[in-house]
Amino acid sequence: MNNMDSDFTKWGWKENPFVLKIDPKLFVGYNEQVNAVLNHIKNKHRVALITGRTGAGKSTFLKWLETNYDTSKLYVSKPPEKSEDFVRVFTDIFGFSIWERILRKRPSLYNLHEYINKKIKGEHLVFLVDEAHETNKEVLEWLRVLTDQIDNVSLVMAGMPVLEDNIKKELETLDQRITTRINLISLEKHEIKELIKKRIEDVGGKGIEPFTEEALEKIYERTGGFPREVLKFCNRLINSALEKNLNVVDEKLIEEHKEIKLPKVRLEEPVVTFMPKPPTDEQFRDLPLKQKMILELLSNKDWLTPRAIVEDLELRGYKTKGHAIRSINNILKRLMLDGYVQREARGKAFMYALTPKVKTLFVES
Ligand SMILES: Nc1ncnc2c1ncn2[C@@H]1O[C@H](COP(=O)(O)OP(=O)(O)OP(=O)(O)O)[C@@H](O)[C@H]1O
Ligand SMILES: [Mg+2]
Repeated sequence: MNNMDSDFTKWGWKENPFVLKIDPKLFVGYNEQVNAVLNHIKNKHRVALITGRTGAGKSTFLKWLETNYDTSKLYVSKPPEKSEDFVRVFTDIFGFSIWERILRKRPSLYNLHEYINKKIKGEHLVFLVDEAHETNKEVLEWLRVLTDQIDNVSLVMAGMPVLEDNIKKELETLDQRITTRINLISLEKHEIKELIKKRIEDVGGKGIEPFTEEALEKIYERTGGFPREVLKFCNRLINSALEKNLNVVDEKLIEEHKEIKLPKVRLEEPVVTFMPKPPTDEQFRDLPLKQKMILELLSNKDWLTPRAIVEDLELRGYKTKGHAIRSINNILKRLMLDGYVQREARGKAFMYALTPKVKTLFVES
């Protein structure tokens, strides 16, 4: 599948820029919508709703939000349907105190808010829920109750346009609480150019090369500025330019591509990520050595499992590797809650990386 990769070098690319990955730093446009949601969060409003059809950029938008505002953010790629899984989204992040462990106190759906309030201690939490159209009335009700009962939370839900109708029909109480409604439709012509340019430059290319300005016009016309369609169309154009050994993608090549198909791209496993509020510079300086070593490692590697960290640091003094992993796991959790690292979980697998602010601290030092 990747044997074409080397061909991209003729434009100076290290890989194909038009794969359908979600990368918040490649986010462009939607300025009005961005401002609306940022205001919503800044003013600590409760419920915001983002709708858009498939490929409009809802997930990208949420992931961008996750990295662009200094408050804790919890993202779920899909609302959990079972109550235990819903509770676990929070307990996995915030964990249990020694007391809670001794008394075996585990929150249920009905006292989850008490547990969360205790853990976030009045700090603002932004709860980002993707694919919210895939859920049912019951889960929407949990979300409503939770946003009512947590002291300081903003819920941002994203989903297909039916979500808005479903909420209106099934749960008026939630509908009435939505104070910000945003619709992602498509990007404008200059934003499409920026999207393409950003992707090309991100893989080492120059500007919009090999696309001509006229080609961009045509791409915009054909796709209606619809982000996923733009990426898919660019991908096909690039591959056909490679096949035909052409150095530019111009109108003529576009003429040869008539139809646009719409295959579905879906994530298999639900993903839960946590982006904490970053630490202050002083807190960072006063960190113990082992913590610093872990952060240093993450600053070079990005996204590691606790096991990979243990293997890389060759930590001594633990009885078994299992002990070492558990210990590193606890340290990572602490570092996460204190704002040094962010976490991504797919099923039971946890991966850690530095938060953007801490990453810049490492680059500076
Ligand atoms: N504003 C944007 N700037 C840059 N790239 C974008 C933007 N919006 C979407 N994209 C790109 O388009 C593709 C589709 O976006 P995304 O997956 O966020 O859409 P979605 O609305 O979540 O779709 P679905 O409903 O199928 O989950 C992604 O590869 C994403 O990187
Ligand atoms: Mg999505």
